[in-house]
Amino acid sequence: MTSTVELLKIKFNQALVAAFGEDFATIDPMVVASTNPKFGDYQCNLAMSLTKSLKSNPRAIATQIIDNLIIDEICETPEIAGPGFINLRLKTDYLQIQLQKMLGNERLNIPKVNPNQKMIVDFSSPNIAKEMHVGHLRSTIIGDSIARVLEFQGHEVLRLNHVGDWGTQFGMLITYLREVSPDALTTADALDLGDLVEFYRQAKVRFDQDETFKETSRQEVVRLQAGAEDSRRAWQLLCEQSRREFQLIYDDLGIKLTERGESFYNQFLPQILEELDKIGLLVENQGAKCVFLEGFTNKEGEPLPLIVQKSDGGYNYATTDLAALRHRIETETATRIIYVTDAGQTNHFMQVWQVAKRAGWIPENVELVHVAFGIVKGEDGKKLKTRSGETVRLRELLDEAVSHAKKDLETRIKAEGRTENQEFIDHVAEVVGLSAVKYADLSQNRTSDYIFSFDKMLSLQGNTAPYMLYAYVRIQGISRKGNIDWQKLETDIQVVLEAEEEIVLAKHLLQLPGILEEVAQDLLPNRLCQYLFELSQKFNQFYEQCAVVKAEEPQRTSRLALCDLTAKTLKLGLSLLGISVLERM
Ligand code: ARG
Repeated sequence: MTSTVELLKIKFNQALVAAFGEDFATIDPMVVASTNPKFGDYQCNLAMSLTKSLKSNPRAIATQIIDNLIIDEICETPEIAGPGFINLRLKTDYLQIQLQKMLGNERLNIPKVNPNQKMIVDFSSPNIAKEMHVGHLRSTIIGDSIARVLEFQGHEVLRLNHVGDWGTQFGMLITYLREVSPDALTTADALDLGDLVEFYRQAKVRFDQDETFKETSRQEVVRLQAGAEDSRRAWQLLCEQSRREFQLIYDDLGIKLTERGESFYNQFLPQILEELDKIGLLVENQGAKCVFLEGFTNKEGEPLPLIVQKSDGGYNYATTDLAALRHRIETETATRIIYVTDAGQTNHFMQVWQVAKRAGWIPENVELVHVAFGIVKGEDGKKLKTRSGETVRLRELLDEAVSHAKKDLETRIKAEGRTENQEFIDHVAEVVGLSAVKYADLSQNRTSDYIFSFDKMLSLQGNTAPYMLYAYVRIQGISRKGNIDWQKLETDIQVVLEAEEEIVLAKHLLQLPGILEEVAQDLLPNRLCQYLFELSQKFNQFYEQCAVVKAEEPQRTSRLALCDLTAKTLKLGLSLLGISVLERM
């Protein structure tokens, strides 16, 4: 089954062909859901853009389109408005039939895309021996949600964790640890990530002050790259230590990732340079190997090259990304590659992609997307820091979210005079706390900075996770109270829509597939949050105006079906944001 927008688009293309000829078979008919019910449920904005090519006025074009449009089963008679908009209103019959089809269907009758695509989402990607910070948290949450939507749509998605597990910092760290904590380089579990981060800091201080230390560190990098056994072992232990800590966070957040860190691409780096050289793109500049790029200049207006090999022979972050890009295209055969990082890395990706394009490594059917996001700020409006001014540790941040949620919950339970066992309280607090962090991030337009506030994200009012989870519990409760065996009845339930609020809710329910297509296209999960928030508001209006359990048949069953579909839509939508619902809270 096709979604309503898709169906309308097909109908419009058929009308365009009938009216203006075959050339119009594949033109985008510009059909979108209306933002204001005054203009119907959907509108077609195409007529205005055809005036030049058809040498006619938009209202006349709109009339011609409508004359050829066969949509009687879907819409009321179309109306032309303003300069030439075509406004469409869905027929109640059509709505009823569509809802009925959704009832018995696990995917709410949302089709998978055909054909699907192989896609890569590169997200999370923290760095070894460093603490994962809130930027990585944003990448993790946003990347996971995008991957979930694309997977639901039927795409083949490879979720890659491009961990920073290679580079000169290991020379420094290993050299330092040989001095102060040699055990850590030979025994597993000798350090935790907190120690490691602290040693990293100390090693950096030494590196910057002590020339001999610096030189030893450099040699250590060379030994590591040459595969010296003790260095290799030390490196592995350091990586494992960090990996274990990252995994705890992923487990808490329910994140699945395939690790393929920078070190994996090390084997391909010399070849990257060779090829760039062969096509004449490499230029030597003060001992470093560079590619000069169009449109990139420094503050003085001088051309800014991308350095692919430093004068000491070492490779850069960018070189690894060039190798990763080739591998993803040639070996993984991905046709859409999505990078989820903070907006600060936009230039980096633009440069890498430009080099890859000039080298001819990016076929026309491959799309590269940078999903950039803003900074996480504290309530003071400044970059989020601990009180003492340090980077906030994710572990602590998540624990705090859960303990806040627990406090709120305990207060509420008391106020409602309920008694609940500890297991229930712990479970609900965990789900609510972590969902709140996720939802607070996802409900913002990711391109802007966002302010991290436990109080706001845990509020039961407004566009928050607790509000959405609570809406689900309540609606689910109503449909349960109706005592209907859905499994049995799903096939022969009659949906009858009469009240205005029922129709508004029904139309909103039918918009989910269109919203998911948008999210898959623009990679903005906040659209889905907004949709779900509006759904619960429209549900509330319906529930205020229409009796459900006490209604007479056939309304009673039909309205219970609306409750059930709303609950299922919330559950599905939240799951695509990485949030699982609660049956009670
Ligand atoms: N490790 C990097 C960081 O912490 C992010 C890596 C993003 N992915 C990539 N292919 N460059 O900033």
